[in-house]
Amino acid sequence: MSDSPFDFAAVPPLLLAWYGRAGRALPWRRTRDPYRIWLSEIMLQQTGVDTVIPYYQKFLGRFPSVTNLADAELDEVIDLWAGLGYYSRARNLHAAARQVVAEHGGRFPGDLSTLQALPGVGRSTAGAILAIAFDRKGVILDGNVRRVLCRLLALETDPRSTAAEKQLWRWAENLTPEDRPHDYAQAIMDLGATVCTPRQPRCPECPLASLCRARALGLQHALPRSRQKKTVPVQMQVALLLERDQRLLVRKRPFSGMLGGLWEFPAAPVAPGADPTAAAQGLLAGLGLTGELREAGAVRHAYSHFKLDLRCYRGTVAGVLRVAEGDEGRWLVSAELENLALHGAHKKILALLLASIP
Ligand code: ADE
Repeated sequence: MSDSPFDFAAVPPLLLAWYGRAGRALPWRRTRDPYRIWLSEIMLQQTGVDTVIPYYQKFLGRFPSVTNLADAELDEVIDLWAGLGYYSRARNLHAAARQVVAEHGGRFPGDLSTLQALPGVGRSTAGAILAIAFDRKGVILDGNVRRVLCRLLALETDPRSTAAEKQLWRWAENLTPEDRPHDYAQAIMDLGATVCTPRQPRCPECPLASLCRARALGLQHALPRSRQKKTVPVQMQVALLLERDQRLLVRKRPFSGMLGGLWEFPAAPVAPGADPTAAAQGLLAGLGLTGELREAGAVRHAYSHFKLDLRCYRGTVAGVLRVAEGDEGRWLVSAELENLALHGAHKKILALLLASIP
């Protein structure tokens, strides 16, 4: 059966009719403002709708226009982003806002290549902005659309290979209609998010079930083919919860590195095979502080390329040999810590700490 040509033209009418009945009412669907749509697409790149909505609203409350965002300090943007993860998005967001103001007079460009020249805007995000904000034919191949296409056209090879990637873009292009690109873009993304879901696809509710090659072959659960499980390395670190006058020491990470601009408790890597307690004591001495440390539990946190095994130590500072103050070190009370842009792993430490205080 898969030898017969696929009827690409049959898809948009079925999908659009379904979207009319079942599409989600999401905040960024009440606007055609390219700034708002761009913001939503960047936030949705690696984060689900439910998590994004409050961030989207908070951002727009603070930065109602691209000019407001361009005028802000990066620090403030990072603070508002704290908790969403993948922080390079926040840095790119700020840089792109400045580019839109400097190079395009504050108006978002409405063509694919100029959109793609903005930091953080790849081919699929540019296609989404073109379709959703400008109602122009924009081709989208994000995670949801990829999964829909892998099933609809029964792609049995590894979808991450270069050949499969080309094939998927060709299919996405063939499926995208000239007509109603705005609705089509939202519809195909909604189908992936709510019906053609990763683990338990709801085929009986799918408007494309009669066309779906994976379903005809009984492969809807097997596709897309999953990546060979990589073993991700585990990195051990120690973190210090150091108390002085009922305040805890936190530091700001440099803007340039991973999680740049976010706050954390003093932390350091532990070399493979080394003793974490000795590493914690070394870190304390390196900060110019003295005091007794005691073990205070461990936290695990997964990043895209490694897992963190974070061993926590608590201690009351007895002596300050060198003052760890200034831009990179502050002593804060717990109410201040709860409002601080701590990165995810250290938010877990704070939760651990607050749970341990009677
Ligand atoms: N994922 C990416 N873009 C989206 C959108 N506009 N609506 C819902 N989910 C999305």
